[in-house]
Amino acid sequence: MKKICIAVTGAAGQIGYSLLFRLASGEVFGKNTDICLRLLEVPAALRSAEGVAMELDDCAFSNLDSVNCYDDPKVAFCDANWVLMIGASPRKAGMERGDLILANGPIFKTQGSALNQAADDVRVVVVGNPCNTNALIAASHAPEIPKSQFSAMTALDEGRAKALLAKKLSCTIKDITNMSVWGNHSTTMYPNFELTKVKGRYLSELIDEPHWFKTEFLSKVQKRGAEIINVRGKSSAASAASACIDHIKNLNTPTPTGEWFSAAVMSPGDLYGVPKGLMYSFPLRTLKSGKYEIVGDLSLSDFTKDKLQISWQELEKEKAIISDLLGTIE
Ligand code: NAD
Ligand code: LMR
Repeated sequence: MKKICIAVTGAAGQIGYSLLFRLASGEVFGKNTDICLRLLEVPAALRSAEGVAMELDDCAFSNLDSVNCYDDPKVAFCDANWVLMIGASPRKAGMERGDLILANGPIFKTQGSALNQAADDVRVVVVGNPCNTNALIAASHAPEIPKSQFSAMTALDEGRAKALLAKKLSCTIKDITNMSVWGNHSTTMYPNFELTKVKGRYLSELIDEPHWFKTEFLSKVQKRGAEIINVRGKSSAASAASACIDHIKNLNTPTPTGEWFSAAVMSPGDLYGVPKGLMYSFPLRTLKSGKYEIVGDLSLSDFTKDKLQISWQELEKEKAIISDLLGTIE
């Protein structure tokens, strides 16, 4: 039996509560893998995390080896194979995710340094917003971990784009492949409908109103997080947890031939004009070796190239705002 250790920050929060039970159930890593869960919280929420740990015990999941709660990231991350960095404040109605940067950024500096205690093969997934730039901060403080082992989550945006398309085209989610969300997890993100396929055919061959895709579709996906906050009164949680499960599965399983998935990773600097040293969402594929690659040979329209640039320019601005929080990027 294999054993893996997963540390989850913000474990007593909304997303943590939806995520932990699915991780413990064996759904993600399979029935041949035992799971050790490390729940990290701030001291004030530690008791609440302990309550979540009690509920996890009560589920009697056969794959759950252990659950422990911590308020020290160095201890929580020690030898962890996955670190899911969720703990951070969510925005309130009327705010942009980028408005959280000065409040949340320092969390990722402290916890980034603690990541050096993790296992050599650790995968770090950043969910706490603004997730791209927080991932950059964390990676910059963990020089011993290859930057390729860091990612930030845009799977929720990909899911939103697919769901919207399925409704528009009266097809099923399974019919839609090759959706990719590019850039920042913000209102500048670009869900690339031009390369998306429906039942194996390019969307462009099926639609007679490209204007809708260039306007309403983009805007709806870009603003869906704010729409949820306005309607639900709280930021998305169960859908975010579900997207986090998808993100882990996507990184952990070879991608079907010809397909891809979206996640923000360190830009190498030589693809699609995106500057080096930004955490940027690209289409990725996971190889049989377990490593991922950025799908680097796509032909993009001028419309798409403009959208990509708007998003990397925004990430450069975020990076400048938090320059004091950055460690080593190269
Ligand atoms: P929440 O307020 O319900 O929970 C956050 C938890 O983090 C709280 O329990 C808090 O005590 C804890 N926390 C705060 N600082 C911490 C620290 N330094 N160490 C450990 N724990 C800490 O929030 P939520 O709804 O679970 O959302 C968490 C974050 O995820 C927010 O920043 C939100 O904007 C973001 N989010 C991102 C996406 C995405 O697609 N990337 C989707 C949804 C939410
Ligand atoms: C989301 O996309 O739902 C999250 O990033 C939360 C938010 O602030 O929009």
